[in-house]
Amino acid sequence: MSKKKITVVGAGNVGATTAQLLAYKKLGHICLVDVVEGLPQGKALDLMESAPLENFDSKVVGLNDYKETANSDIVIITAGLARKPGMTREDLRDKNAEIVKSACEQVIKYSPNCFMIVVTNPLDTMTWVAKKYTGLSKHRIVGMAGVLDSTRFRSFIAMELGVSMEDVHATVLGLHGEDMVPMPRLSSVAGIPITELLPQDKIDSMVERTKNGGAEIVQMLKTGSAYYAPASSVVNMVESIVLEKNRIVPCAAYMEGEYGIHGIFMGVPVLLNWSGVAKVVELELKPEELKALHSSADAVHKSVAALKV
Ligand code: LAC
Repeated sequence: MSKKKITVVGAGNVGATTAQLLAYKKLGHICLVDVVEGLPQGKALDLMESAPLENFDSKVVGLNDYKETANSDIVIITAGLARKPGMTREDLRDKNAEIVKSACEQVIKYSPNCFMIVVTNPLDTMTWVAKKYTGLSKHRIVGMAGVLDSTRFRSFIAMELGVSMEDVHATVLGLHGEDMVPMPRLSSVAGIPITELLPQDKIDSMVERTKNGGAEIVQMLKTGSAYYAPASSVVNMVESIVLEKNRIVPCAAYMEGEYGIHGIFMGVPVLLNWSGVAKVVELELKPEELKALHSSADAVHKSVAALKV
């Protein structure tokens, strides 16, 4: 198993499910941190008690303070409020910015060289907040969302065509919100573009469903948002890093001129490996795709400008 130390901040549904998958996949030792007394300790102990059956030797500890998280290799920030039906991710901005700020100030004191993955919503804005309060370089911090949005698109394509999920690839760029940019042209089944396999109206409705993928689940759950697919998405990214896979995945990276976008985090294809964000891959986009990406960027700029922290 990997001996990496991984801290998960936030022991809610996304954080706890992430810890569970990290342990089951033997990706490292895990510190689960939460402000609520007993919650991370209880979940960590429960997970440890499943170890003999799931056959993992990772240590999982629950903590209320950050001292024991010292020298974490990877830190995952999931702390924050989740949406209720009718709310947008943007409605969470001010409260979650405070939570992310205070978590980051603590994390960085003890793990100044960590690689950070931010999951808290509104994702692209919270990753910007995390960069500000950790001072991490753009190579050491990303936001998780592109993997989740692409995974949702993949699952809708596979369900529609009745083919194995394994053969479906999909790309979703832009912010994690209504203005995300699913890319049918870059989505395929066994190498065949979906534009050759499905009529335009079907593709359009899957694109819409992907954009509203998070809200669809919130509507059903009523008391919170999705967590199985979000946690799987985070763990998939951790796997690329820990196993040094050199994968290209869509995630929110800090933009310094790529695609003509500056000073914000937003979903773009990224080469992810042990060094972190090794590179933002710049695709040749069609004018209408670039326009959609820029309006996504405008929305993130607006959200960042409205921050109070
Ligand atoms: C979602 C939330 C977690 O997309 O942003 O489900």
